[in-house]
Amino acid sequence: MPTTKDREKRQSIIDACLRMNASGINQGTSGNISLRHGDGMLITPTSTPYEVMKPEQIVYMHLDGNHDPGQRPSSEWRFHRDILKARPEVNAIVHAHPPYSTMLAIMGREIPPVHYMVAVAGGDTIRCAPYATFGTQELSEHAVRALEGRLACLLEHHGMIAIGSSLPKAMWLAVEVETLARQYHGCLQIGTPPLLSKEEIEKVRLRMAGYGHTEE
Ligand code: 13P
Repeated sequence: MPTTKDREKRQSIIDACLRMNASGINQGTSGNISLRHGDGMLITPTSTPYEVMKPEQIVYMHLDGNHDPGQRPSSEWRFHRDILKARPEVNAIVHAHPPYSTMLAIMGREIPPVHYMVAVAGGDTIRCAPYATFGTQELSEHAVRALEGRLACLLEHHGMIAIGSSLPKAMWLAVEVETLARQYHGCLQIGTPPLLSKEEIEKVRLRMAGYGHTEE
């Protein structure tokens, strides 16, 4: 029997999904969201429109992949599970197909340090993980590697992942990454954008410690 707190957590995932589509960083049911919960995670069900998603449809999955067989977790549960396993400091994962991030990902491009805000994802680039079929263990391994030391990555021919210690933080970062992708895309129309140095990004990263969404 889910507790009220459980229900609130499940509802916060649905609310974030609705915001994800309203803000334009996702379309339809292309995205998925998970939250660490006890020894496992709460994750969105597969291919379910967010407008009709009910808290009880959010799937509780143990980190070994076990879940109520009557429920249908997101097809991307492997990378959600593997990121939570690999990154104890991470509690929330947002995956979406934002238009500009996905355009860059289709071209297999990472986001270089065109703007100092690249540092919010933890380094001097936002890497693009190599392509693998959606929902596979191979894609999960590529994603975990691309996120090493980082809080966001692109997925080649696919989309983007943003992670954080809380759902508001991961959502905030997802919007920031899409903004950076849009800026980079715009610059590419004009020419080859000049880049900030690795040293400058590191300076910004240290200065920004604690910057970003603070709401837990
Ligand atoms: P789900 O509806 O299974 O979460 O899949 C959407 C998706 O993003 C696949 O990459």
